[in-house]
Amino acid sequence: MENFIQALFDTIVIEGKTLVLGGDGRFYNREAIQIIVRMAIANKVAKLLIGRNGILSTPAASHLIRKFDADGGIILSASHNPGGPAADFGIKYNSSNGGPANTTLTDKFYEAACQISYYNIVEIADIDLDTLRKETIGDTIIEVIDSVAEYSTLMEHLFDFDRIHHLFNSGVFHARFDAMNAVTGPYAKTILEKKLGANQGSVVRGTPLEDFGGGHPDPNPIYAAGLYEHMFAPDAPDFGAASDGDGDRNMIMGKQFMVSPGDSLAIIVANANRVPGYRDGVVGVARSMPTSRAVDRVAAYMGVECFETPTGWKYFSNLLDQRLITFCGEESFGTGSDHLREKDGLWAVLFWLNILAERQQSVNDIVQQHWHAFGRHFYCRHDYEGISLKRGENVIAQLSEQLPKLSGKHINGHEIIAGDNFSYVDPVDNSVSENQGLRIVLDNGIRIIYRLSGTSTEAATLRVYLERFEPKPEKQLLDTQLALADVAKISRTLAKISELTGLNEPTLIV
Ligand code: CO
Repeated sequence: MENFIQALFDTIVIEGKTLVLGGDGRFYNREAIQIIVRMAIANKVAKLLIGRNGILSTPAASHLIRKFDADGGIILSASHNPGGPAADFGIKYNSSNGGPANTTLTDKFYEAACQISYYNIVEIADIDLDTLRKETIGDTIIEVIDSVAEYSTLMEHLFDFDRIHHLFNSGVFHARFDAMNAVTGPYAKTILEKKLGANQGSVVRGTPLEDFGGGHPDPNPIYAAGLYEHMFAPDAPDFGAASDGDGDRNMIMGKQFMVSPGDSLAIIVANANRVPGYRDGVVGVARSMPTSRAVDRVAAYMGVECFETPTGWKYFSNLLDQRLITFCGEESFGTGSDHLREKDGLWAVLFWLNILAERQQSVNDIVQQHWHAFGRHFYCRHDYEGISLKRGENVIAQLSEQLPKLSGKHINGHEIIAGDNFSYVDPVDNSVSENQGLRIVLDNGIRIIYRLSGTSTEAATLRVYLERFEPKPEKQLLDTQLALADVAKISRTLAKISELTGLNEPTLIV
């Protein structure tokens, strides 16, 4: 850790600069902060803004960097991955715009870390992380700040808190937020229970634990199974939501109903004029390439551009900085807007609560009316996990070879319209990102995407994203897996999945 921090400090020439510092509370968070504080003092950092108790959600860190004009921020987190002595830990650097450092910068950190021969550190006792205050040690001002209050003030500017308060006060509206024993607990308790009047106990698993209670803090039906089951029980509350380890992902649910991330983004954009912070209008939207195209239809209806980017929030950050987009999102439960430069879990939750308070309808009705108006994009991801990297690469290679000859071909009664290997030219910095996934478009609004994700040097996961558009309301209530059964079959045939991986069925369906 000392190696990486010194490499980072040397690369950004840290002397005299202001840094935001905090983490998601996982194992080693506090120890890491103490080491970084000692090194910051030794490297003559001008000012350190530290979240109280060492806690900072990723979106709150992004907000603080922007609000206090900091030069950057260090976030200690491994996002949605498990925490604990034997689990994951990570150090992330965000730049002065509040967004994740770009690859040019992270490559420089890496290069510096490979050559480093020293690090600067002072020997002082641990500083107090739990009391709000300002002190000066050496040339460094250390300020412990209330990041929950700062973040909640930002949310109050964006959303109609009075209206949401009325909704909770009505006595007939109940919500459940699962903080997954991770960083959003303190934020959610303050905002939802104290400020917005949700019942005590609406926030569950609200205390950040070093090992997240042994769980995997990833808000999806598998890892947030408790919330999922609760929302499918006969006496389910009206609204359910969860966020991940560092607070940037979100899952939205209604009674016996789950909103897919792609639909959630589309519905947020379509309802932007109902939310105070967005009444000036939407300048444009963006989604990562594999994400459902539901938002494209809303953008077309509004007459604004929809950017299709590679996976990674930095691509959105560039577009946000240039004011080319107002909203952005990705299929992996990430949604955000121009209010900061990260995806933001609680923000998405509050956006939904604001829509519910305005429209006085259930989550289910809002989603179904949206489908009625724009059509439904059936969408899901099939993962083939634990295949060897070699086999995975083979699937991609053989399909890549076929790409130029695919268009016009028929498969299982469907015509292939186009196929390519997605590449992206960033309209802001003109950087080129190649090999971002194989994209195959068929008739009837069908699209299949293949991506290989390497989890280690030997094992890989083949991710297949299935999508089909359904304009007819009477067919929109079908079960997703049933609606996509045909598409799943085509995806396996096209890529010779069973033949090349030995797996006849996906190991995970999200
Ligand atoms: Co995260």
